Amino acid sequence: MTEYTLITGATSGIGRALAVEFAKRGNNLIIASRNLPKMRAAQKELQAKYSIKVIPVVSDLSQPTAPQKLYNYCHKNKLTVSVLVNNSGFGLKANLQVEQDLAECERLFQVNLHAVLQLSMLFGRAMKKRRRGYILNVASTAAFQPMPYAALYGASKAFVLALSEALHIELQDYGVGVTALCPGLTDTNFFQNGKPTVPGWLYKLVTPELAARRAVKALYQKKIYIIPYFQHWLIAQFSRFGTRKTIARIMRRLEKMRKKIRIL
Ligand SMILES: NC(=O)c1ccc[n+]([C@@H]2O[C@H](COP(=O)([O-])OP(=O)(O)OC[C@H]3O[C@@H](n4cnc5c(N)ncnc54)[C@H](OP(=O)(O)O)[C@@H]3O)[C@@H](O)[C@H]2O)c1
Repeated sequence: MTEYTLITGATSGIGRALAVEFAKRGNNLIIASRNLPKMRAAQKELQAKYSIKVIPVVSDLSQPTAPQKLYNYCHKNKLTVSVLVNNSGFGLKANLQVEQDLAECERLFQVNLHAVLQLSMLFGRAMKKRRRGYILNVASTAAFQPMPYAALYGASKAFVLALSEALHIELQDYGVGVTALCPGLTDTNFFQNGKPTVPGWLYKLVTPELAARRAVKALYQKKIYIIPYFQHWLIAQFSRFGTRKTIARIMRRLEKMRKKIRIL
């Protein structure tokens, strides 16, 4: 029986780096995203370099039926998913939540929350039955405190972190490891409005390769969560101190600096 690692959004950034990291370990891959040409290019490269099998599946996770279809595809083709990586995700363009486009908010809801929940349930159930498997859900350091100027994105990642931590405990007695990957600022296509402008001494932009390497190690060590870079971990700990309002104000400052926001 051939086993696979299913990665959503493996066409760029952290997902692409995770695909390489699993490929290095000899894992066969199913990669799922909207962009078939990019997936074909990744398939060609990874198969040639690491002698593994890579299956691309076109899936737009902003469609409510997409997670079930992805599961059905694997089931129908007898592809056993022993590692699930919920990586696909994106942020919104406007700064103030009240000015976001509602249709975009709903798309974010589907991709960042609904797809993560549904895929974790569908594949997690099968893993529980087999009494083994791994789930890596990509949250963010944005999950640790409210995020003024990235409100819905931060809330979506808080959902992913809380869900993953609870699943970690629920599934540990069934041999299934669940880990939340919480990267800080990482150098990917994520920043549609230009690279963050926070000075390096305050907040370093790390490479997706570093995040992926440390994430996969943490997954196989069955850690409950991982913040791949020490400086980012340290900043995330601030939310344990101070009142909720103080923490929200500090985050507002950081986000204003990151996005060069001026209040008119
Ligand atoms: N970069 C950071 O600083 C940072 C920090 C913390 C957490 N994260 C999280 O890390 C994850 C990966 O982001 P990234 O930084 O690597 O950004 P990225 O380079 O923009 O990658 C995003 C990936 O998500 C996929 N995706 C987006 N919308 C999708 C949809 N509707 N259906 C299926 N796949 C979709 C994209 O694939 P296609 O376009 O091919 O569909 C792409 O492969 C996200 O969950 C993000 O929230 C990033």
